[in-house]
Amino acid sequence: MSILRLSIACVAPLLSTFALADVTLQPKAGAPLAGLSLSQQEAFAIGALSYQTPLTIATGLGPAFNKGGCMSCHANPLGGWGAIAVTRFGMDEKGEFVDIPELGGSLLQAEAISQACREIIPPEATVTATRITNSSMAFGLIEAIPDASISAHEDPSDSNLDGISGRVHWVLPLEATAGSPLRAGRFGWKAQVATVLTFSGDASRNEMGLTNRLVPTETAPNGDEVLLSQCDTVADPEDFADINGKHFIDRVTDFQRYLGPPPQTPKTGMAGEVIFNAIGCASCHIASWTTGKAKGLETALRNKVIRPYSDFLLHDMGTLGDGVQQGDATEQEFRTPTLWNLRTRDPMLHNGTAAGGLFADRVTTAINAHGPFGEGAGSAQAFAELAAGDKNALIAFLDSLGRAEFDFDGDGVRDLEDFTALRGYAGAAATPNTHSAIGDIDQNGIVNTIDANAFVQAIENFEDPARDCNGNGIADLVDIFSGTMPDADGDGRGDNCPSPCIGDFNLDGTVDASDIATLLNAWGSAGGDLNADATTDASDLAILLNGWGSCK
Ligand code: HEC
Ligand code: HEC
Repeated sequence: MSILRLSIACVAPLLSTFALADVTLQPKAGAPLAGLSLSQQEAFAIGALSYQTPLTIATGLGPAFNKGGCMSCHANPLGGWGAIAVTRFGMDEKGEFVDIPELGGSLLQAEAISQACREIIPPEATVTATRITNSSMAFGLIEAIPDASISAHEDPSDSNLDGISGRVHWVLPLEATAGSPLRAGRFGWKAQVATVLTFSGDASRNEMGLTNRLVPTETAPNGDEVLLSQCDTVADPEDFADINGKHFIDRVTDFQRYLGPPPQTPKTGMAGEVIFNAIGCASCHIASWTTGKAKGLETALRNKVIRPYSDFLLHDMGTLGDGVQQGDATEQEFRTPTLWNLRTRDPMLHNGTAAGGLFADRVTTAINAHGPFGEGAGSAQAFAELAAGDKNALIAFLDSLGRAEFDFDGDGVRDLEDFTALRGYAGAAATPNTHSAIGDIDQNGIVNTIDANAFVQAIENFEDPARDCNGNGIADLVDIFSGTMPDADGDGRGDNCPSPCIGDFNLDGTVDASDIATLLNAWGSAGGDLNADATTDASDLAILLNGWGSCK
């Protein structure tokens, strides 16, 4: 007996370390990269603040602009994509796009700090195109993919005869010194930008009117320099260094570079991905990349495997083209967009035409639009010919791109409803194609207590997830999951445990003076409401006083 105990005691720590290493949760979309140093986390947070603080006229907004801050467009989540579109215009000369910067092209600034400075689409413009806001998720990792890895996928003369001939959009970063080599573009609908810093400098001036060290002059409304001089009151460049020596464009670059990759749940193995590969989607939407090993790269960005589902190459998309030539990208060409986080994307496609309805509707519209002409035609045709079951499997796979672990109902929040679903699958088998797989985090084929323990780290909007009211060293949620603690009303709290800490606003396990302060501060608003009548008043104070003291 004692020998048996000893051996269990020796093995258990090994088992648990192994299990922990196996169930590292993926960051939710919008969270920073795992493994950032403290100073990098700080740069991420400071950058996020700049990213979400709208500019004012005094801090450089306008005179012509589209929105006041990056977050006005990149909102889902912060740094992600959005439904806001911008407009490009130019002239069509015998099928060729002609840029007309002297009339304010190609990007329209639809807003201005005064009515007189507003830009319009000039009557001379015969081409206008709409571009939806795309996302900056994990841009440090994408930036860290070596140019040579991207160009290795080029096939300009279609030597393998698959109808697909992607090519690199070679571009010069704005920050590059004279004589620097061109870089493989990867950002923007036409892969027109290679580095995050360049996009920050470009977007700051073109979307917000913030002149900066990379783009130091304002854009004149419809090219009218006289009008510009009347409207522009702040000396250029408007961006300047903060006490840490960082400009606005550097801070928002930090934020975007340290954004983590969106999750994918289940991580691998769905039947739909096999179909995705078989019908040629993966010829352009390449799943996996490894970032570079350059010495200067931060550890969190070096030699990492990521799954963005893009080749970052330009493809002739036939009638899907927008008629705008940009850099070397032609009127018909687009860069393959990343598909990670696809499940939350509405609208889809550069012009937003796959919008609304169910996810399956949007995806189907987007895929159909890959044909009937251009390099996507073959796979669009193959998709149309799939049996209904295979189509559904493919769509289910696409729906895993951006799903957070444990988010069974797919609403983006891991809460009590997801715990109820997880409980329902306790001990159940899970293959990547079953719904239960959303809770099989270590993908060992069964939903067990290893997964339930991981859920304790993931649950949101739940007071004290690690609560252990029976003191057995196991979180109550895991006890309930295992059936060793009754929870008949399904509130995630054992039926025999003391009632919750009503009034414990700061969740420190005690209802005390600091909670009273919170309540008083919220007086008259909904912020301190404890009896669900949408206001904070004397009856809420009475409830709080009733629960005074420790409620662990
Ligand atoms: C008015 C809306 C709007 C604002 C404001 C805006 N963006 Fe964008 N952003 C877009 C659109 C639209 C695109 C797609 C542009 C294209 O490729 O033509 C885009 C693309 C990007 C991309 C490339 C994304 C990709 O998937 O390749 C980056 C990076 C970016 N923006 C950064 C920023 C930053 C940083 C700011 C603030 C300084 C900002 N944006 C402000 C609308 C906006
Ligand atoms: C020839 C390369 C290529 C192939 C093959 C291809 N795609 Fe695409 N895909 C693109 C490009 C380029 C776009 C952007 C088109 C646009 O926005 O106008 C795109 C856009 C999409 C979008 C919309 C994404 C967004 O963010 O708006 C989805 C979804 C998509 N593809 C899925 C698929 C699926 C599924 C297949 C296989 C049936 C497939 N693609 C095959 C290149 C390709």
